[in-house]
Amino acid sequence: MRLDVVTIFPDYLAPLDLSLIGKARRDGLIELHVHDLRDFTHDRHRTVDDTPYGGGAGMVMKPQPWAEALEYVAGQGDSRPTLIVPGPGGERFTQPTARALAEEPWLVFACGRYEGIDERVYEWATSAYDVRVLSLGDYVLNGGEVAVLAMVEAVARLLPGVIGNAESLVEESHEDGLLEYPVYTKPAVWQGLSVPEVLLSGDHGRIAQWRHEQRIARTQARRPDLLPPPPPPADS
Ligand code: ADE
Repeated sequence: MRLDVVTIFPDYLAPLDLSLIGKARRDGLIELHVHDLRDFTHDRHRTVDDTPYGGGAGMVMKPQPWAEALEYVAGQGDSRPTLIVPGPGGERFTQPTARALAEEPWLVFACGRYEGIDERVYEWATSAYDVRVLSLGDYVLNGGEVAVLAMVEAVARLLPGVIGNAESLVEESHEDGLLEYPVYTKPAVWQGLSVPEVLLSGDHGRIAQWRHEQRIARTQARRPDLLPPPPPPADS
């Protein structure tokens, strides 16, 4: 998979050199290119923002550097990339989104800052890209970079070969609508706290049953919104 990130803070993406994603890059499973938006400006100050039409607080990212950067990036490959613009006003990024994006050959991320990118860029970009605005959740970050780190990690770990033990992907939270069961390792008693007896029993059927019950109880307690609604009361 090819990934490109356009940002005014290329250093923010340095963690993508680390850990499993860094190894996947070195193994050639992921090809990642980070581009500095300011390289596509032409003034002495490398200006990427300007005041908003209509007034209001903050600055807006100018369309011209974005157009030049996105045109340059789209010209680097031979398929039609998906352009992802992270932002709190986007569709929610979820595990199914990550799974769908993991099927694509080429993702380009555009990191907005300030009050956002001039709206015309989104429409302009549709000639070369499939454009999606995606939000991590209902809170506001200072820019798209941290969201790109999260999205790239969520997508890249689903690519064949990136995670050594592919089985560990199957029973994770959000893969089947339930949260993960609690896990324990040695020692069996620590600080006076014991590992649940069933896990020491060697009875795989009982263990599977216990883990399933734990997943339901945990989902009920922490994320009841993930469970199907209870059936309506029977007519009296
Ligand atoms: N940029 C700013 N806030 C964001 C959010 N909640 N999700 C994705 N990108 C963002």
